[in-house]
Amino acid sequence: MNPSPVSLPIWRPHKKGLLVDVLLSADGMAASDQPDPELNGFDLRPSLLDDNAPIASQLMPGAQAVIVEVKKESRASSAALNKLIADAPGLPVIAAVHSPSLADMRNLMRLGVTDVVPLPLNATDLVEALERLRTDIEARGEAGGSRGRLVSIVKSVGGVGATALLTQIAAIHAAGAGDGRETCLIDLDIQLGSASLYLGALPPLGMKDLLDAGSRADGALLRSVTAKHSSGLHFVAAPQEMMPMEAVGSDQMIALLDLATREFDTVFIDLPTNWTNWSFSALARSDAILLVSELSIASLRQARRQIELIEQQGLSNIPLHVVMNRVEKRLFRTIDFNDAARALGRDVAFTVTNDFETMSTALDRGVTVSSINKRSRIAKDLGAIAGALSQTATRRAG
Ligand SMILES: Nc1ncnc2c1ncn2[C@@H]1O[C@H](COP(=O)(O)OP(=O)(O)OP(=O)(O)O)[C@@H](O)[C@H]1O
Ligand SMILES: [Mg+2]
Repeated sequence: MNPSPVSLPIWRPHKKGLLVDVLLSADGMAASDQPDPELNGFDLRPSLLDDNAPIASQLMPGAQAVIVEVKKESRASSAALNKLIADAPGLPVIAAVHSPSLADMRNLMRLGVTDVVPLPLNATDLVEALERLRTDIEARGEAGGSRGRLVSIVKSVGGVGATALLTQIAAIHAAGAGDGRETCLIDLDIQLGSASLYLGALPPLGMKDLLDAGSRADGALLRSVTAKHSSGLHFVAAPQEMMPMEAVGSDQMIALLDLATREFDTVFIDLPTNWTNWSFSALARSDAILLVSELSIASLRQARRQIELIEQQGLSNIPLHVVMNRVEKRLFRTIDFNDAARALGRDVAFTVTNDFETMSTALDRGVTVSSINKRSRIAKDLGAIAGALSQTATRRAG
């Protein structure tokens, strides 16, 4: 059903304020209050949301944030929201939703929205949301106003080699970053994390101190709990003692990753094997996902399930690269890459050869595989992944 024609909004822009697009359906627009044009010094630009065009294409040039209507239980609406978040990285997105429940809010935050306001918009809710937005934008401004890239790694099954690959790729990336660009690895496997071990250190401070600091965590605190690897990679170690998974909240995780991506140009995160709300929030914040599997029926099957889960969560527009680990150099394999592509519904992007000796020596010594054997196949494979990630790594405006 087409919405009945409506006369377009009369909210008047306040010229000097922060420019915020307000994109609502005709119904949403008609039911909403018309806020004071001078509202908190913001420059609100309401317009009708066109469901047939990408939301990003409907934004005013120079918009510093957007309030956009999102329909609950509408796949099209959440897909459009997802696309907006991917198309306009770093842009604060406030979702306007009819009677949002706590679960709705959680889901939306997980998708990467900055805030949620109830529809129809009323002046009180709007003022509060805009105040939060101002604080957020100011915090970003103080931090230089830019956001680094977040790369996460997901494993088909435990033990597939995700942490080994991630630490190696992050170290190679850091060594080649140049131009004062900084790379950080954060071990979010808070119960069983071994990234710092693979980087040759057990730093006294790490994730636990960041989490304990809660909202006091800032750039200086983050840097004070980071250790540095010889490659130049900064890393935040998992807690030395097992932490309950529920000790972390999604909001806290998003704030922490926002802080890390303000502070560093590229942030790599290792995730726990089992999904929780906050690990999905972390994944939803990512700019790229590496999915590690092996060429075995069991591993491919679980990799497929991970892909399906990621798709079900509405995260299919985050670039996902399948990495096949521990690949044997054999002429005839029982399962080949075509079988893998068929099983996964997507191509294998990268392969890493099976070389336990070089890999385990590198991890035991906390160095890169190329410093063990520069000419090894495994060093080339890992270099290729790091190189491909760097090529697409551009610093993003926030
Ligand atoms: N390409 C490879 N060739 C040979 N051995 C490898 C390779 N990649 C990883 N390994 C080995 O696999 C073992 C497990 O690796 P890792 O700890 O990275 O797995 P994981 O997927 O992170 O597991 P977890 O579920 O414990 O987080 C390590 O001993 C590592 O040396
Ligand atoms: Mg691991």
